[in-house]
Amino acid sequence: MNILHIAAECYPAAKAGGLGDVVGALPKYLNQAGHKAAVLIPGYRQKWIINQPFEHIWSGLVRLGDIKIPVHIRRHTGDSLGFELLIADIPGLFDREGIYTDPQSGFGYSDETERYIVFQQCALQYIQSLDQKPNVIHCHDHHTGLIPFMVKHCPEFRNLSHIPAIFTIHNGVYHGSFGWSKAWILPWYDADANGLLDWAGNINPLACGIKCCWKLTTVSPGYLLELLASSNGLEWLIRNELPKSQGILNGIDTQVWDPESDPLIENRFYNDISRFKSDNKAVLRKRFDIHADQPLITFIGRLVAEKGADLLPDAIAKFLHEGGKASFVVLGTGDPNLKDAFLTMKHHFTSWFDTSIEYNEALSHQLYAGSDFLVMPSRVEPCGLNQLYAFRYGTIPIVRATGGLADTVTDVSQPNGNGIRFDHFSVDALAASFHRATAVYHHPEAMNQLRAHNMSLDYSWEKAANSYIHIYQST
Ligand code: GLC
Repeated sequence: MNILHIAAECYPAAKAGGLGDVVGALPKYLNQAGHKAAVLIPGYRQKWIINQPFEHIWSGLVRLGDIKIPVHIRRHTGDSLGFELLIADIPGLFDREGIYTDPQSGFGYSDETERYIVFQQCALQYIQSLDQKPNVIHCHDHHTGLIPFMVKHCPEFRNLSHIPAIFTIHNGVYHGSFGWSKAWILPWYDADANGLLDWAGNINPLACGIKCCWKLTTVSPGYLLELLASSNGLEWLIRNELPKSQGILNGIDTQVWDPESDPLIENRFYNDISRFKSDNKAVLRKRFDIHADQPLITFIGRLVAEKGADLLPDAIAKFLHEGGKASFVVLGTGDPNLKDAFLTMKHHFTSWFDTSIEYNEALSHQLYAGSDFLVMPSRVEPCGLNQLYAFRYGTIPIVRATGGLADTVTDVSQPNGNGIRFDHFSVDALAASFHRATAVYHHPEAMNQLRAHNMSLDYSWEKAANSYIHIYQST
């Protein structure tokens, strides 16, 4: 089969979070399974995109209200990816450094609606130009949620309506909603299709994708069930569309995340787990002010409420004030208030807390390798990949049992336990789980067994890719 993924992110070209990891891995594994998968993303002014070789393959014009925007598609000509990567150059809208957010101001771009409306039309025009059309169009998150609608209800694109459109929700928190006053910047559509665009009085690309796609998937089975119960007002819609929906747990790219060959860590794994961990912790001590002989608990991710980062300052302070002994490191960017809180803690809890307020892919690999625990106190976690990376590098996850975290992490008190789970989103529950983690740490034999067990877990993409192939074939 010939599958075209259309998304806002794709690692290593452009990644803001797990969406990028998935879109950068699934196509590779689809190709390895004998299919032909390609990816189309917008051409941000990101380092990787600037430095890699591309060839121009197509140009067109997209209407945005009164203006026409020249658009171009370039194909990656390097051979490092394992799939065809296409970049849509859209001057004025995407030739910017940030993906969603202006790195200078820290604010999201205010023309998000216009950007993705043009991108989606550009993608469809490009597909129209192809002699050999994809057998499936796979859209990811709200940025591409209008595509299944456009092919069915915009006369301009109706010649693509026979191609099955799959829609995957990686993050149901963001809907990409905008007011009806902007309806005029959409491509012409059948007037009687208004109801498909609308949800609660706005044009809602996420809801529209859910309604119009042929098959809907979420990135874990548990998350699909959670969306039924709580999805920012979409509960009823998800319930309605349940017959065409399925939760598929993401895999991880075990070629990128391989402790035996990872070029981003200083000491690779070579059959001695405690040595692997302690040598890599020593590397971290050159960068962070942390204790050598205490457990290291790390948070890696966006500093946002969704990820529960706001629970960390109070829970860490409570744990340390109660006499708990562990060092903490936070790596990530996001909410400026949280950033200030972490920078203050660095001075307040010298050697017990350190932070690097940045997005840093290489440092994150070193942290997985050198940390003892990885904390994910998420309010919402559709799948979560970090706990799976942690497993592979012998780091024990401490997670709030939600979504994909609940699907993948079993508490150490249970048979085949692989991490520490807590249920209630509260400072007390998180601080208590830090105490449980330190207790585990002080049983070196149990700790090493746990590490070995986790490193042998298989969350590779092969299985998940097969589930997607089944879905594609069932359309
Ligand atoms: C989003 C979700 C995360 C998921 C990722 C990839 O970033 O928040 O839980 O793992 O998408 O599907």
